[in-house]
Amino acid sequence: MPGQKPKFYLTTPIYYTNGLPHIGHTYTTVVADVIRRYKRMRGYEVVMTTGTDEHGVNVERAAKKAGVPESEFVAKMAAAWRSLWDELGVPADEFIRTTDLRHVRTVQWLFKLCRENGYVYKGHYTGQYCIYDNAFVNDAKPGDNCPDCGRPTETVTEENYFFKLSAFQKPLLDFYKKNPEFIQPESRKNEIVTFVEGGLKDLSITRAAIRWGIPVPGEEPHVFYVWFDALTAYLSAVDGPEYEKRGMWPADLHLVGKDIIRFHTVYWPAFLMAAMLPLPKQVWAHGWFLMDASKMSKSKGNVVLPRPIANMLGMDALRYFLLREVVFGQDGNFSYDALVTRYNSDLANGLGNLASRTAAMIDKNFGGKIPKAGKLQAQDETLARETQSAIGDILEYFAKMEFARGLESIWAVVSAADRYLTKEQPWALGDSEADTQRKATILSTTAELLRIVSALAHPVLPESTAKIWMLLGQPGSVSAVELDGLRWGELASGVQLGKAQTLFPRVEKSEAIERIESMANEELNPTAPTPAPVTTPTSGSAAAAPSASEKIGIEDFAKVEMRVGQIKTAERIVGADKLLKLTVDIGTEIRQICAGIAQFYEPDSLIGRKVAVVTNLAPRKLRGVESNGMIIAASVGPEGRPVLAGFPEDVEVGARLK
Ligand code: MSP
Repeated sequence: MPGQKPKFYLTTPIYYTNGLPHIGHTYTTVVADVIRRYKRMRGYEVVMTTGTDEHGVNVERAAKKAGVPESEFVAKMAAAWRSLWDELGVPADEFIRTTDLRHVRTVQWLFKLCRENGYVYKGHYTGQYCIYDNAFVNDAKPGDNCPDCGRPTETVTEENYFFKLSAFQKPLLDFYKKNPEFIQPESRKNEIVTFVEGGLKDLSITRAAIRWGIPVPGEEPHVFYVWFDALTAYLSAVDGPEYEKRGMWPADLHLVGKDIIRFHTVYWPAFLMAAMLPLPKQVWAHGWFLMDASKMSKSKGNVVLPRPIANMLGMDALRYFLLREVVFGQDGNFSYDALVTRYNSDLANGLGNLASRTAAMIDKNFGGKIPKAGKLQAQDETLARETQSAIGDILEYFAKMEFARGLESIWAVVSAADRYLTKEQPWALGDSEADTQRKATILSTTAELLRIVSALAHPVLPESTAKIWMLLGQPGSVSAVELDGLRWGELASGVQLGKAQTLFPRVEKSEAIERIESMANEELNPTAPTPAPVTTPTSGSAAAAPSASEKIGIEDFAKVEMRVGQIKTAERIVGADKLLKLTVDIGTEIRQICAGIAQFYEPDSLIGRKVAVVTNLAPRKLRGVESNGMIIAASVGPEGRPVLAGFPEDVEVGARLK
């Protein structure tokens, strides 16, 4: 229809609910949000979908461990994911859960279409099965043990529904050829083409041994198996069977990590071809964010969480770092050091400083009103020309997903303005008519550059560019700027500056890192170091302790190593009024342990005291101080006053508690 905006539908993967978001998931969602904002500023009507992938054995197990029904478990986790995205300013337009009724209907409908078109048949699936966990073990060979419980697997054959993936080898290869942009980046495309050329095996898409899944209508106890269920969420989110009415399908972009590209570029288009539904236009696979060069995992204790970074430096700083640090598509390393360095250099000293300097000079010299430029000199015109010509390049870099280059070009403009100010020295000019005119020209040139930079950087730095926009007193909202019409020379002059505010306060690196780490520790280990009853370190509800009625085996208890320790030194920790830093002799070594007992025990009264210590807890940092173990105490009364566990008889230091 004339006058209607073109549509753009993009998705992130739907994330598993057996954990909570870390920086890797945040990366994909942030990139999706950047694209969404960018496309909106280029005149598109955009829908961004994210959500949660809630079925399967892992959820069954995690729910069992938490002692709650699966539906309750996933509801809590999905709410946590959703509210974190809201909190971080990357909310979904459509948040799809695979337990939503609209999704269940869509999966069953897609299956029906595939079946009616002759691409589904009943066959036998043979695989290694763990009889203790009641689940097939993917990729296991006869003789392998179950990776979860360690017990032997058995070869079991089950009757399942199969999808005729083998029929799609040629259609897929033809499709890739006709749509050379479908798989991005190029290097991944070659990998997929080679894989498909190697031949495709039919795919088992239902399971009878899993309970927690979407039922195959009329074929109970069969439920749909992971990918047939999960991928369909992209379609369910935009009205599934009624997708034509909504007008968003096919997706313009599926954004995924490189780990799941095969499912998105082979299985998904094949399912859709079989159902004779429109195919997505593009799948873009980005690389991994690694921590200390290895993959993040809870067991390695190297997960980076988004919230503490956002709390310390602001979400814009994290967004900027994620997009600026790594070439989109490649792997990159995450380090707090690099994050804070970039924050201070590019944001605090760079953009933030330019904006506050400019505003302060306009305030001082022109009563806070944006001045009108006088006669332009060559250097003013050069800066204007350079900025104007950067606009097109930057828009193009973003369109090609070259975010790092786009930001680099924006920051080249910021640096050019810094050099310009240093050279022109408006602060050194006097109050004569000519000098005032010159100051007006310099400051309005800088303000105009800042206006353009704010609009260009807005998709990446939504909060701070909105602040700069307000600071410059510009009309409307920066998000409403049409990037295609952005050009030099449209600064509203004579308008009053908004209230001055610090955009990116400079931080001291080691202190900032310490605070981020300490907040992350507290988030990962919500039961802080207070001497509460012994629990293994938990991480959100996924790893909650067994409920009181649930018994643990002796082998579980035996995993906890406790010894008699003797406190050697005790001191308070500056800035942490609940914590004491202790050194404790545990027989074999002296350990540093933090304990949340500072409000109840004087440090000196503890020296020489024998205590019960959990000695095999993974070390962690509390308020920036390493703690290597845990002291046991009773938690007494409603306020949980800690009372240290002790020994009425004399005991040897280092003796094991059993
Ligand atoms: N549930 C499936 C996806 C189904 S989509 C129909 C899944 N979920 S996941 O929770 O494991 O999320 C995987 C996605 O999270 C990756 O594809 C990637 O987008 C993101 N990342 C998780 N860890 C990552 C890094 N360390 N680095 C970058 N992104 C990563 O797979």
